[in-house]
Parts: sequence; C-alpha cells; structure tokens
Amino acid sequence: MPVVPFQALGPRLERPTRLRRSILSVPGSSEKMLAKAVTTEADEVLLDLEDAVAAAEKPTARAKIVEALNTHDYSGKVVAVRVNDAAGPFQYRDVIELVRGAGGHIDTLVLPKVQHPGEVWFVEHLLSQLERDLGLDNRIGLELQFESGAGVTFVSAIAEVTDRTEALVFGPGDYAADLGLDQTDIGRIERGYPGHQWHYVLSRLVTTARAFGADAIDGPFADFRDERGLRESAGLARHLGIDGKWCIHPSQIPVVNHTFTPSATAVGRAREVLEALAQAKSAGAGATALDGAMIDEATRRMAERIVARGEAAGM
Ligand code: COA
Ligand code: MG
Repeated sequence: MPVVPFQALGPRLERPTRLRRSILSVPGSSEKMLAKAVTTEADEVLLDLEDAVAAAEKPTARAKIVEALNTHDYSGKVVAVRVNDAAGPFQYRDVIELVRGAGGHIDTLVLPKVQHPGEVWFVEHLLSQLERDLGLDNRIGLELQFESGAGVTFVSAIAEVTDRTEALVFGPGDYAADLGLDQTDIGRIERGYPGHQWHYVLSRLVTTARAFGADAIDGPFADFRDERGLRESAGLARHLGIDGKWCIHPSQIPVVNHTFTPSATAVGRAREVLEALAQAKSAGAGATALDGAMIDEATRRMAERIVARGEAAGM
C-alpha cells in the first residue's frame, strides 16, 4: 500500500464544506419516496441504486433517479446518489447514466463496499472524463463506504486517492456480515459486548477522515420504531467525533439532527471560553482560569470547533 503523501495531509481547501448531520437513504425504485425526500429536514438525500433496489429494477431505478433529479427541488440539501459496488455488473452504467442524465444536480456519488484504492481510481477517471465531455461546472464529490475487514484495513490508502473524497461512511450491516458476527439487525449495538461494539471501526474512520479533511459518517439503524436505540447509537457515534448518520425513515431525522447539533448550552459555554481567552490574551496570558478550571489554546480550538458546528446548524 502506498505511503500517505505529505501534500495529502491537512484540510483540503478545494473540498466544499457541507452540513451532513442526517443523510436520508431513499430507494431509487420508489418514485413516491424520491418525492417525499424533498419535504424532509434531512441535510442530505442519498438516492440509492444499491441494496435498496432489487437487481431486476436497477435500470428503471437509474431512470427514476435521473427523472427525480431533473424535476424535484432538492436545493438546500446535499444530493448524493449511491451507485452499485465495483465487483458487480452495474456500476459503470450507474455512473455514466446518472452523470449524463443529471450530473449538474449531483453533489456526490456514494461508493459502497470499497475495499481497494483501485476502485476509487476507476471512478475518479470515469468522472473526470464525463465531466470534461459534458462540460459540467460542478465537480462531483465522493463518499466512500467501508463495510468489510479489507476496506477498514486499507482505509487510509483508499481515502488518499482523490480530493473528491468528502466523507468516509460506515456500513454496519455488510460489515457485521463480513466479520461473521451473530447479528441480523442493521446497526444494532449488541448488549453482550461490554462497551461500544463499533468503537474501533468508527474511531478508525474518524481519525482517517480528519487526516484527509473529510467527514466521518455513521451508517443506518434499521429498526425505525426504536427511537431509544437510535438515540443511543447516534449518541455513541457522536462521542467518537462522527459528524452525522444515515436515516432510513423520515421519522429518524429529528433525532439524528438533534444528536449531531451541539446544544445551546455547549455553544454558549464555548463562546464564554473564547471571550475569556481573548481577555487573557490582551492581558498577555495564554492560559487562564474560568469557573475554577484551566483553559488554554487547546480549549480555544475545542471551543472554536463547537461554535463552528453550531453556526453551521444555524445557531
Ligand atoms: N425516504 C423517503 N420517504 C420515506 C422513506 C425514505 N427512506 N421511508 C418512508 N418514507 C415515507 C413513506 O413513503 C410514507 O410516505 P406517506 O406518508 O406520504 O405515505 C411515510 O414516509 C411513512 O412511511 P411508513 O409507512 O412508516 O414506512 P414504509 O412502510 O412506507 O417504508 C421502509 C418502510 C423501511 C420500507 C422504508 O422506510 C425504506 O425503504 N427505507 C429506506 C431503505 C433504504 O434506503 N435502504 C438502503 C440503505 S440502508
Ligand atoms: Mg451495505
């Protein structure tokens, strides 16, 4: 595997910053749900051609997504389309037909089951050729989904391929299958394990995402009637630094948006910290005390990040 080149590290200024707390997955075969997605509070809509669509329906789902992109107004939301994986027969036509049909309306493509950098290189070149050919003025980004031991093992080599990469996404169902876990509920955290079952993989995705200036996104929680379970799953992911989470049903969006927005109390406290540090600085001090606790440059960076996330969410 290649070593991460120096220039790949750090924030990539050319990459757009997008609000990605809730990502609503919408089956591309359902015209009704493609329309319904417009009315939701999701930060991102993910129009799915992969596992939500039966094999026989893939060609018609492509056409339905193109039609939806050209007719519905998804403005104000990030617009993503999940294509099929590289190992199957559908991906090249997914990319070509979507970008030819509605490339100007697509912010990102989501690549599922990524296991090797070559898969990202393939789409990078295909997109570059299509964009040049069609004279598109938007540069389509990528969100890479990690759902296997191989994908997670090679995550940094995969993330470094292209600065189109905007997000690294966990796929809990396929990951549990690949690892051979005794589980059939997508996204559930098993009680038999004394801790957070997805800690390793989510932390790996967050740290890698930060190295490349990308977002880190948790996958879905399938039982959409279990609000408590969703809240727990999203909350644990947020504690690890995850930026947002997939939703498979509109009812999950408010819980997820709430979890990935800093509280008014946290933003208020962060502003107090910044104010106290500004005063300390004008008095010539780097560190000072606020309510009996030390605050310094590191506290400033933490507080700035919280304020920025709050402001991005309209606070
Ligand atoms: N996107 C947009 N609209 C959705 C939706 C989704 N993911 N899930 C449900 N809706 C709509 C329904 O069409 C329905 O609309 P209506 O009130 O206008 O009739 C409303 O929300 C309530 O839906 P409900 O009846 O509770 O659920 P359902 O039985 O229609 O659908 C699922 C349940 C699980 C089949 C559906 O939520 C779904 O397909 N989710 C996404 C699956 C997916 O994308 N999987 C792959 C990624 S993990
Ligand atoms: Mg999957």
